[in-house]
Amino acid sequence: MPLLLAIGAVLALMSAPAAAQYPAKPITVIVPFAAGGPTDVVTRLIGDHMSRTLGQTFVVENVGGAGGTIGMTRAALAQPDGYTIAVGNMGTQSAAPALYPHLKYDPATSFAQVGIVNYTPQAIVAKKSTSATTLKAFIDYLKANDSKLNYGHAGVGSISHVAGLLFNAEFGLKPNYVPYRGTGPALQDLVAGQIDYMVDQSLNVIPQIKAGTIKVYAVAAPERLASLPDVPTTGEEGVDFIFSAWNAMVAPKGTPADIVARLADALGKALDDPAVEARYVELGSSAPKGADRGPAGLQKLVESEVARITPVIKAAGVTAD
Ligand code: MLT
Repeated sequence: MPLLLAIGAVLALMSAPAAAQYPAKPITVIVPFAAGGPTDVVTRLIGDHMSRTLGQTFVVENVGGAGGTIGMTRAALAQPDGYTIAVGNMGTQSAAPALYPHLKYDPATSFAQVGIVNYTPQAIVAKKSTSATTLKAFIDYLKANDSKLNYGHAGVGSISHVAGLLFNAEFGLKPNYVPYRGTGPALQDLVAGQIDYMVDQSLNVIPQIKAGTIKVYAVAAPERLASLPDVPTTGEEGVDFIFSAWNAMVAPKGTPADIVARLADALGKALDDPAVEARYVELGSSAPKGADRGPAGLQKLVESEVARITPVIKAAGVTAD
């Protein structure tokens, strides 16, 4: 091949949009909580579909600790080449700034937002041996015994921690807060009766509720979940406590826009897949719609949630450091 043509070909290859060859190898997805928990479960469900769309394996790496901020810090500092991404959540991407004064990332500016993965309401659950039969009776029980009781969560700043803070503050409860690397392992201890209660993502507790291994008092949502038709809402139980959580996919800041667009497109295809939709219903989850989809939808959510949650957490007077 004449030299000029060869040089031209190489230059064309070099200036070709990064996405043209992407992905050329497996993609690592950091999950900042323990395996088997809600963020891990929904990441693997979506990751499987996205890997089929993009033709490369999604390798989940669970990097737990510090309410998920260790894993998200690793993601923020990763090479912005599209081969390391992460699935954080409402805790790591909106509550953490108010709780970690020395946080090494800013949820609104340290990432290239890919998109919201799911929404799921919290459920109020307790160990099976708890005698209360209604939410109000359970709250009375908590009021009478809180200092002796253990509340399990996924670390300071996680969804289950913030939801617990707000639920307990609502009724003046001061239990012992027991941190885990995720609500996967926390739930195992609830089933074993090692801790007393949690306010956790429905998608995590539904299988145990159906197995009858834990007690559920209510779902903190305006309407009942199709997968838990017999479980009342907090409103039906006369308790004013609504808490909807979310998980979301991000890449390190500086990841080429056309690669982020390919990831967002593959995420969208996964969310529109009938099998994924059916699994979401089983898991008490819902997918973002319309303008809530994609990078812009997530950016808007992160900014509004940071603004909403920060004063609430400040008022609670809690910090991680
Ligand atoms: C998890 O996957 O363990 C949860 O998303 C943690 C949390 O409560 O934020």
